[in-house]
Amino acid sequence: MCGIVGYIGTQSATDILVSGLERLEYRGYDSAGVATVEEGQINCVKAKGKLSNLRQKLEHTISQAQIGIGHTRWATHGKPEEHNAHPHLSSEMSVAVVQNGIIENYLEIKEELIAKGIEFRSETDTEVVPNLIAHFLTSSNSLLEAVQKTIARLEGAFALAIVSAEHPYELLVVRQQPPLVLGFGQGEFFCASDMTAILPYTRTILNLENGEIARLTPLGVEIYNFTGDRLSRFPRTLDWNPIQVEKQGFRHYMLKEIYEQPAVVRNCLDNYINLNWHAQDNPDYSPINLGLSPNLTDNLEHVQILACGTSWHAALIGKYLLEQVAGIPTTVDYASEFRYSPKPIIPHTLTIGVTQSGETADTIAALESERARRADLEPRLQAKLLGITNRSESTISQIVDRIIDTHAGIEIGVAATKTFTAQVMSFYFLSLDLAYRRQTISHSRIEEIIEGLRHIPSQIETILDTQADYIEELAHDFATETEDFIFIGRGINFPIALEGALKLKEISYIHAEAYPAGEMKHGPIALLDNKVPVVAVAMPGSVYEKVISNAQEAKARDARLIGVTTAMNAIEAAHTFNDVLTVPEVDELISPVLSVIPLQMLSYHIAAIKGLDVDQPRNLAKSVTVE
Ligand code: M6R
Repeated sequence: MCGIVGYIGTQSATDILVSGLERLEYRGYDSAGVATVEEGQINCVKAKGKLSNLRQKLEHTISQAQIGIGHTRWATHGKPEEHNAHPHLSSEMSVAVVQNGIIENYLEIKEELIAKGIEFRSETDTEVVPNLIAHFLTSSNSLLEAVQKTIARLEGAFALAIVSAEHPYELLVVRQQPPLVLGFGQGEFFCASDMTAILPYTRTILNLENGEIARLTPLGVEIYNFTGDRLSRFPRTLDWNPIQVEKQGFRHYMLKEIYEQPAVVRNCLDNYINLNWHAQDNPDYSPINLGLSPNLTDNLEHVQILACGTSWHAALIGKYLLEQVAGIPTTVDYASEFRYSPKPIIPHTLTIGVTQSGETADTIAALESERARRADLEPRLQAKLLGITNRSESTISQIVDRIIDTHAGIEIGVAATKTFTAQVMSFYFLSLDLAYRRQTISHSRIEEIIEGLRHIPSQIETILDTQADYIEELAHDFATETEDFIFIGRGINFPIALEGALKLKEISYIHAEAYPAGEMKHGPIALLDNKVPVVAVAMPGSVYEKVISNAQEAKARDARLIGVTTAMNAIEAAHTFNDVLTVPEVDELISPVLSVIPLQMLSYHIAAIKGLDVDQPRNLAKSVTVE
């Protein structure tokens, strides 16, 4: 959501802050600003809208400042206007603060400060923070002390970066829930809400933990807890390559990420399939190498999965696999709902949080509450938590017992594509691992599924090679007048209908709904006419005929029918569908990883033809770190 960058060192702070904010654009924002400290003064420049507006304003300023903070804001308290943009300054302009999160008790503090004669310039919750710090500075020996006194007054979840005109060689950073990472360079130090902002400058990083304050000076970094005790923490070096964050010739990140999927799947296979496994081998040697301890996997009676958005769709495929392959009853809940209506406790439950970013506030809170409510119960009822994430360094890894890293590489497009595919791959690995341990399917079936998984990269390449032009051409038909779409699917491909509809809504702003194909006649079929195209995911297998007949019912209501199916069914498909998006022949169990690809491409091309901001759709953020 909002993005924070901070810098102290020897280079131009403004340049580094703006370039860091550019790298945070993908998170979504509606205004931006920077504040630097120079010659005992804070200079603050803010602009509504895109970063180009901020850059334009900065062209008229000359700054040699070597310390500063920057922010991209996604409005929560107060409209997306310049006066609500961060940084916020204390009333007499001596302290500047940027914040991610929400200060829940800001109204009470604001009233107190107003009574003391402080004037406020914005409607935000954040503005109380610089004013409190300025107030406490008058009775403190250091900026650190004033910040400690301030955060003792704050309630909520917040990440802060702070500079002060009176302390021009200090940048203070506070974490209470939303993520913050510190970067270590040669005589220069950085902070950011997301490491992508600072990757071009350093790969030596340290994740600040909840309840920590960092004091960055030109000489180094000191870490304290909220009560002022100095902590000993050590940075680590990432093996990330900054090039991964470039568009590499593609028009949009989303398109690049769609095309990266064969490589992502190969990477997943390399990481998690034991090459030397054969069906006759030692029974204790699993074909899958997830490193899960028996404590997590033994005697499982139930799996519950918590997730949001696209991750929730991957979880639905996970449920199908865990039930059909590993034979374990599985439930899937929206993390945002589970938080407030937890399910009755079932013994021997494995709880899985699925989150690309590892930072989604609802998912993190749901996992934390699950851990807490089971904490004092007898061992068979206690929480076993597993995380599936693309950011192994993120908050989720501090909460769960074990992570499955989806290894998709950084995803910049707000609409998830390659990370969805990688999450689904993780569920194949997990269900095969559990199936092997529980002996729910034969070794030869395991071998067959693994063989099928090995073909996925080249099969996705085939779809990208053979369908791209056709799908782009088809997209023109829907880019101008179509206002509604319906997606249908069944069984393991119903989540793909959901995902296809979500992709279209997110980036093309076309209203789209998805239904299990058999549900159409129970209501939604009333929506159909010749203005509402229907996309049917009709992959050969147990429910193929059913989907085809549901699609025929839609056609009989004049809907334009677009089918996703395999080449082998070309003749029947041509008979049924007005347009056919073809994927290679595939085992039904594996089909979602192929059927999703044409739907990602269709949404992408519709949005691109409409000239929309594909990578940063309106109102959306890449990681939703507030409730
Ligand atoms: O980082 P997470 O996987 O927890 O994010 C969950 C959703 O916010 C996310 O999947 C969202 O729906 C995407 N924009 C989908 O494209």
